[in-house]
Amino acid sequence: MTDSKNTATLTVHGKEYELPVHSPTAGPDVVDIRKLYGQAGVFTYDPGFTSTASCDSTITYIDGEKGELLHRGYPIDQLAEKSHFLEVCYLLLYGELPAAKDLEQFETTITRHTMLHEQMQYFYRGFRRDAHPMAIMVGVVGAMSAFYHDSTDISDPRQREVASHRLIAKMPTIAAWAYKYHTGQPFVYPRNDLDYASNFLRMCFSVPAEEYEVNPILSRAMDRIFTLHADHEQNASTSTVRLASSSGANPFACIAAGIACLWGPAHGGANQACLEMLEEIGSVDRIPEYIARAKDKNDPFRLMGFGHRVYKNFDPRAKVMKQSADEVLDLLGVENNPKLQVAKELEKEALQDPYFAEKKLFPNVDFYSGIILEAMGFPTSMFTPIFALSRTVGWVSQWKEMIADPQNKIGRPRQLYLGETLRDYVDIENR
Ligand code: CMC
Repeated sequence: MTDSKNTATLTVHGKEYELPVHSPTAGPDVVDIRKLYGQAGVFTYDPGFTSTASCDSTITYIDGEKGELLHRGYPIDQLAEKSHFLEVCYLLLYGELPAAKDLEQFETTITRHTMLHEQMQYFYRGFRRDAHPMAIMVGVVGAMSAFYHDSTDISDPRQREVASHRLIAKMPTIAAWAYKYHTGQPFVYPRNDLDYASNFLRMCFSVPAEEYEVNPILSRAMDRIFTLHADHEQNASTSTVRLASSSGANPFACIAAGIACLWGPAHGGANQACLEMLEEIGSVDRIPEYIARAKDKNDPFRLMGFGHRVYKNFDPRAKVMKQSADEVLDLLGVENNPKLQVAKELEKEALQDPYFAEKKLFPNVDFYSGIILEAMGFPTSMFTPIFALSRTVGWVSQWKEMIADPQNKIGRPRQLYLGETLRDYVDIENR
C-alpha cells in the first residue's frame, strides 16, 4: 500500500483502488476502508484489532510511545494532581472543565442519584455469599434495566443523560453492597454530606455497630485511583460497550457487558492477579525465579501488571500510582510492606532484563494499585469492582458519544473463514 497526499493506493489481484486517508488531531493517519469490500470484494484481516480504528472519538488520546494519556486534551498527571474524580467525570461527559456553578450542580445531581431502588436488595440476596463481587456487579448492573425504565430510551438525549448520571452515581453503592454481601455484613446506605470517594469508603467499611471515620488522605487516594482509571479510549471493555450498544441495547445492559469484559486477567482482572502474584513471590530472593518463568515460552506465566497493548515506553498512570502507594503506606504507618518491596525490586530487575526491554514491557496501572487498595483494607476480590466503578464514566461517555454520532451503525465484523465448504447432510446411520 502506498500513501500519496490524502489517499492510499491498494492493489488487489492486480487492480488498484484509491482509499481515503484521514488525519486525526493527534496520532497516526487512518486509511478509510469502508468502501473496500463494495469496490474490491475483499475484507481486511486484523484479529485483536491491533491496527484498526473502530470509531472516531474526541474523548481520550493515548500516545503509547511518549507514555501520554490525555482526557479532552488534559494530561492525566495534571488531572490526578489538581482535579478530582467528579470534575474528571464532567470533563469526560461534556468535553470541557466545568465552571464552578456547573460543577456544583453536577455534584448535587450525582449525589442525589446514589441510592438504589430498595427492591434491588433482593438481587443481592439471590447470590451465594461466596460469589465474586464482579459476578454480583454484572448481574446487578444488568438488572438496573428492569428498574429504571424511564432512562432506557436511547433515542431521547435527556434519558441518555439521566442513565449516565444514574450509572456514575449508583456504581459506588452497587460495588460497596457487593462487598458487604460478600462479607456477610449489612448494607450501608449512601450519605449525601460525603464526597464521592468518602461515601464509597464509608459504605464499604462502616458497620451499624461502629461508624467509619473517613481519613481525608485515604479518601484523596481513593479519588485518585478512580481518576487514574476513568477512561482509556477504545480498550476491550469500552469496545464491548460500544459493540453491545450498536444494536440499540439499553445502557444498563451494555455497561453490564463492559463489566463482564473488564473482569478478565488480561484487562481489569490484572490488579487482583498482580497482588496475588506479589503475595506468591513473597520475598525479593524469589524474584529471579518468577522473571525466568515469565520469559519461558513454555510457561504460561506472565508478570501481571506488566505490559500494555498501547504503552511501549511507560504507563503514565503507573507513575502516579507508585507515588500514591508510597504516600498511603506512609500515612498508615506501614513500614517495610513486603509486597511493596517485592513490587519495587521486581520492577527494577525486570526493567534491567533485556527480555522486558526488547518487548517494551513496563509496569502498568495495575502494578501498584493493588498495594494501595490492600493497605486501605480491601480484599483482592474488590480490586476489579473498584476498577469497574472508576471506568463506568469512561464507558458511559464513549456510549453517549457513539449514540449521538450520525454515522453510528451496528457493529458487525467480518471473518476469514477457514472451515468446511458446502457439503451434504449425512444421515446418522451412514456416519
Ligand atoms: N510478562 C511476560 N511476557 C509478556 C508480558 C508479561 N506481562 N506481556 C507481554 N509479554 C510478551 C508476550 O509473551 C509476547 O512475547 P512474544 O512476542 O515473544 O510472543 C510479547 O510480550 C507481546 O505480548 P502480547 O500478548 O502479544 O501483547 P498484547 O498487546 O496482546 O498484550 C497485555 C498486552 C496487557 C494483555 C499483556 O502485556 C499482558 O498479558 N500483561 C499482563 C496482564 C496485565 O497486566 N494486564 C493489564 C493491562 S493494563 C490495565 C487494563 O488494560 O485493564
